[in-house]
Amino acid sequence: MIYFDHATTCYPKPKEVVEEINYYLQNIGVSPGRGSYAAQERAIEYIDEVRVEIADLFHITTPFNIAFTHNATHSLNIVLKGFLKENDHVIACSFSHNAVIRPLNMLKQKSKIECDFLSVDVNGNINLIELQNCIRPETTLVIFNHASNVIGVRSQFEKTLSLLKSKGIAVLLDVSQTAGIVPLNAEALGIDFLAGTGHKTLLGPPGVGFLYVKDSDLVDTLLEGGSLGNASSSLNQPKIMPAKFEAGTINYVSIAGLRGGLAAAKNQSFEKIMKDCLHITSYAWDNLASLSGIQLWGSSDFTLKVPIISFSIQGILPHVVAQYLDTEGGVAVRSGLHCAPVCHKYLGTYPTGTIRLSFGHNNTEEEVDTFINILSKLLSEEK
Ligand SMILES: Cc1ncc(COP(=O)(O)O)c(C=O)c1O
Repeated sequence: MIYFDHATTCYPKPKEVVEEINYYLQNIGVSPGRGSYAAQERAIEYIDEVRVEIADLFHITTPFNIAFTHNATHSLNIVLKGFLKENDHVIACSFSHNAVIRPLNMLKQKSKIECDFLSVDVNGNINLIELQNCIRPETTLVIFNHASNVIGVRSQFEKTLSLLKSKGIAVLLDVSQTAGIVPLNAEALGIDFLAGTGHKTLLGPPGVGFLYVKDSDLVDTLLEGGSLGNASSSLNQPKIMPAKFEAGTINYVSIAGLRGGLAAAKNQSFEKIMKDCLHITSYAWDNLASLSGIQLWGSSDFTLKVPIISFSIQGILPHVVAQYLDTEGGVAVRSGLHCAPVCHKYLGTYPTGTIRLSFGHNNTEEEVDTFINILSKLLSEEK
């Protein structure tokens, strides 16, 4: 298989992921925070070491403000359902994933909140006048997707922060497609909430995400249950982080795998991974652009991009193209709306969507050549 679907999940997982899971299971093995014996103390220490590694990625100096969750969807739901109050107004950007759109819609249907979408253009620009016009006295939260999982463009959200801060509006940033590969100083930018997932750019397994909350007093819990520490006598979930948002046994196996993913990424350096991935992305972009009948979506300025390309072929449905690529050459791409219907509405590619290529550290120019040859065959057959 030629795998061009890293934005869904990275594959294959680096060997360090498997090694670190083995290490944890064979050498620590126990659940962190549920006893007072030595192995359990080591387990807590281990999990906190990974927490520090995540914090370091975003220049966060308070790692305990980061909770491990199941995935980005879980992290986003904690903020949306725990921070928003009755009659709040929310602004979400047009790049938003369904992990944002659907919880917001559910809250809206229950008449709890109101919500508007803010357009982000194909270069990631946000119109400050449009934002200003969207803001109401009830606006409490603006949600940005750090990079579109459809067109791979980074949103230029930084330019909005002074306006939002001056109005006391909190910012939630979804870093699912950028964690590690796009430098981010969350503390210096004053970001209130950061939500991400372990199985994409961080090269980890599924089952672990993370959530940074600057001030946890502002967020109610989504789940309550057993938690780290010795407070079992309390009927209430602990108020302090990370225990506040880590109800129930955390997925220490996936957290170990995430540590392996981070080790693999750091062995090469995230900068090199990003450079290599963007090289392949621009190679694929240029080759696609040389074919007639291909419409490429999003910016061609690679300084604004993560390694994702969306394209369409006039007269052929995206899922037909994806199926052809798979059957003719085992090329795995994703077609359709990519869980981001609002983005496609803004692009004009709704409801059929696009064909998405997303690249990882192990993709090669030869794989892109194979893909282009198959696509050229399809184009010539359709003539
Ligand atoms: C931008 C964005 N946000 C959120 C998610 C959800 O991630 P997960 O399925 O790991 O919760 C994704 C996954 O594709 C994504 O691309």
